[in-house]
Amino acid sequence: MLTRVRRWWRRSPDDQGLRHPPYVDVCRELQGHGDDPMTIGTILSDLERRGVRGDRYDALRALTAAHPRPHWANYFLCMEEARRGVDLVSSYPPFVWMDVSSICSVECRFCKYTHDQLPKRNVTLDEIQRIEWFKYVRNLNLTAGTAEAITNPQFVDIFDYLRRTHEHLHLSFLTNGRTLNARILDAIVGRLDALHVSMNASNEADYDRIIAKGNWRQFSTNMRHMRDRLKGATRPNVSASFVKLRWNLDRAVQDLEFAADHGASFVMFHHYYPHYVNDIHHDRPERLAEKFGFEDSLYFDRERSDEVFARVRDRAQQLGVEVATPPPFGGRHHLAFGVRSLTPPPDDCVDPWTKMYFLWGFKSRREEITICCGLAADIGVYFDRAEIATSEGLMKVRNSPTLRAYRRTVNGGRRNPICDQCRKIDRFAPDAVYPDQRTFFEFNDLPVPPHFTTSGWVTAAETRGRQRLTLPVIGGGVVGAGDA
Ligand SMILES: C[S@@+](CC[C@H](N)C(=O)[O-])C[C@H]1O[C@@H](n2cnc3c(N)ncnc32)[C@H](O)[C@@H]1O
Repeated sequence: MLTRVRRWWRRSPDDQGLRHPPYVDVCRELQGHGDDPMTIGTILSDLERRGVRGDRYDALRALTAAHPRPHWANYFLCMEEARRGVDLVSSYPPFVWMDVSSICSVECRFCKYTHDQLPKRNVTLDEIQRIEWFKYVRNLNLTAGTAEAITNPQFVDIFDYLRRTHEHLHLSFLTNGRTLNARILDAIVGRLDALHVSMNASNEADYDRIIAKGNWRQFSTNMRHMRDRLKGATRPNVSASFVKLRWNLDRAVQDLEFAADHGASFVMFHHYYPHYVNDIHHDRPERLAEKFGFEDSLYFDRERSDEVFARVRDRAQQLGVEVATPPPFGGRHHLAFGVRSLTPPPDDCVDPWTKMYFLWGFKSRREEITICCGLAADIGVYFDRAEIATSEGLMKVRNSPTLRAYRRTVNGGRRNPICDQCRKIDRFAPDAVYPDQRTFFEFNDLPVPPHFTTSGWVTAAETRGRQRLTLPVIGGGVVGAGDA
């Protein structure tokens, strides 16, 4: 019986004559994701011939190094490093968000972005062409959270180059829609994988109130053109989102209908996250005054919020679109990645291994890496664009002391205070204690990045106290911000 099983094992069409069980397993697993069994078989049988019989980790390292199209091998290598808790990694990030501009085309009044905060800079086509390591990446989003990718005058050239030279990449970006013109639509139709439009309003009055320095006419015309141009296209898949506040909550169902009517198949509704805006602009009251305040949060209108989002979910069903709304206040929820969630957080977080965001730090005002969109922010891993273009340069940054410290302390019994809070607090709640990022560096005996000391950074609680904001109490009444 055993011999028969062994014979079947050897004859199996997808093992490429490999004998060493970990190599057979890896070969089958990668093949299951569409990888080429011949290439994998050649690399691994060469190891067998040379008497190298390593484990799964060794096999994945060898494949990542030798495979001409290594994105799947690299992904499984990365997951293996996360599973083993390896802090000095040899995998490349499978999921990359890279801002190609520090300039936005609007100033949303819920967003930390202001035109005068950051140095104005567009990443050039030449800088993108110099990047050696895209072949390891699975997903590349050209928005990492700073601004608006399509304001870059070379955006179409950058996109064309990436699409032409890296067919395997799942390409996406976010936009506020204002400059999503015919030229950009022509470039992306049938070629971009996913497009997210942060619509945020479905009528002119709401748009003008929520989007400072915007242009409803341009936005709404672009949305109509987007619908017409992308109709019937195989890709991109279009999603949309709306940040909901107390004053625009009642338009949520219309927002959903607007998004669906303009081609979105997935529509997200978010709470307003007030802490970061306050944190960034606490020392510039004139800028802060242009933004929404804590008091605009739906956390002060919980019943109405639950009721409206229930109607949104019903309407989405009728329309046949997928929708995501915040978990009802009146129901059970978990806390995951610093926000209320219907699903529990994973036992182990893999973000410091799998994700890299290349953006402009709003505190450092420099090009900076971050590793998640949870609670870690402004982590002071600055980068030089010429250096990270090479594989060696990227790995130097990827294995910098701060990123290694995150990998050592994100999971397990000795969690750093930031990742620990990520499973415990709802950062969207106006009365949440906003985490002090400096505690991460103190915990890990690392120098605190200069942007926390030179900019006179204070905690959000201190900030709210200083501004003497007036906050409604959750559940009714009104108190001073310092009490909230
Ligand atoms: C910072 S924007 C940058 C990308 C692009 N310009 C856009 O508008 O999509 C990224 C996303 O964050 C959302 N966002 C920004 N600030 C927020 C806040 N304080 N609360 C909730 N969502 C916010 C925006 O609506 C947008 O969907």
